[in-house]
Amino acid sequence: MGQFEYKNGVLHAEGVSVSQLAEEMSTPLYIYSHEALVSHFRAFDEAFSGVPHLICFAMKSNSNLAILRLFSELGGGLDIVSGGELFRGVEAGVPAERVVFAGVGKSDDEIAYALEQGVLMFNVESEDELRNIDRVAGRVGKPASIAVRVNPDVDPKTHPYISTGLKKSKFGIDIARAREQYRTAAELPNIRAIGLHCHIGSQITETGPFAEAAGKVADCVRVLREDSHDIRYVNVGGGLGITYHDEAPPTPAEYAGAILPQFKDLGCTLVFEPGRVISGNAGIMVTRVLYGKENEEKRFVIIDAGMNDLIRPALYQAYQGVLPVEEAVQSRPRRKVDLVGPVCESGDYLAQDRELPELQRNDLLAIMSSGAYGFTMASNYNSRPRPPEILVHGSEYHVIRERESYGDLIRGESIPAFITGESG
Ligand code: LLP
Repeated sequence: MGQFEYKNGVLHAEGVSVSQLAEEMSTPLYIYSHEALVSHFRAFDEAFSGVPHLICFAMKSNSNLAILRLFSELGGGLDIVSGGELFRGVEAGVPAERVVFAGVGKSDDEIAYALEQGVLMFNVESEDELRNIDRVAGRVGKPASIAVRVNPDVDPKTHPYISTGLKKSKFGIDIARAREQYRTAAELPNIRAIGLHCHIGSQITETGPFAEAAGKVADCVRVLREDSHDIRYVNVGGGLGITYHDEAPPTPAEYAGAILPQFKDLGCTLVFEPGRVISGNAGIMVTRVLYGKENEEKRFVIIDAGMNDLIRPALYQAYQGVLPVEEAVQSRPRRKVDLVGPVCESGDYLAQDRELPELQRNDLLAIMSSGAYGFTMASNYNSRPRPPEILVHGSEYHVIRERESYGDLIRGESIPAFITGESG
């Protein structure tokens, strides 16, 4: 995390003091490093510089307009999973011809919107969906380019909630049935099958599963070509893991080394959908200590950020690193604590049984590796306004999303007259 380091005893994001940002913006808040985002994107891009490729950033990991535009300026596109994500991409100025549309449950309106915008292709997850896209494309009067998402039955060896390439998963179509799906696609008048898609899971920390899936996908492309389907794009999805704690995931170059040999004779454009590996370690969430409390069993440190602000620990028992913003705090005696939020749920914690230096009211903490699936999974649960997002660039910073207000919490709500008793 070279962009988040102590300088003069205070944690900095690039050249900006995290403690000063917390004073100015209040807490909790998200802080991203421009340099980290750019360098992570470039490392991935350069790993595949020898082959035609398109990096479609998985915007479910971080969908702030500024960040989407940044990757677009670097030549990237987007992996989207909803009409709302497409809208964000369009608003950010990302060219639609660099957008791929995934997800098991695309509605007719979303399909029509994507066709009107001219997305590069749909990743199709079922035969029902394939036939429906054909129907909507006929109505809209624009053919739909598609890739069938095949499920290669590979164990990604990651958390079950984020494994997607096993047979028991709701995602994709059994790879053994790919030929018949493409035969069906070829018969549909408004469908152009130009690609093949596969994604096996997220936070994958070894190359083996990627190489195994790539081999199966490449074999499948060869078979489809023998059947005269013009497959020009192979989309291998995302999923490359990052270091949250002590994981040692492959670098993008090692990942490229594991999969490129499988594709070298195919002459396809490779499409990637990385999310976490680009945004995860480019962001932190900053929170302030409110109170401490102890019972016979446990010591709790209560902070002003909760599961509504960052849900990964509560939802997946995920580990997020915790660093005091003032370096001097590190030298206090260490205690095992639960770091818990203000939300009224027992599952509302950011760290459990964690050895941390003794914390006092008003201490600031950085929750590390929060740039992916942090803000995008934040909610208003307990009517808590969502935190602001700040993008740091050298010694400057920009508020790329303001803190929500109480007014934002009730936007769109109204009380009907049959409750208030008012007439007219
Ligand atoms: N492509 C597809 C089809 C996906 O389903 C996903 C993630 C990605 C790409 C991006 O995966 P990445 O490169 O970020 O691993 N909320 C969870 C992660 C859910 C991942 C869902 N799909 C978490 O916080 O760990």
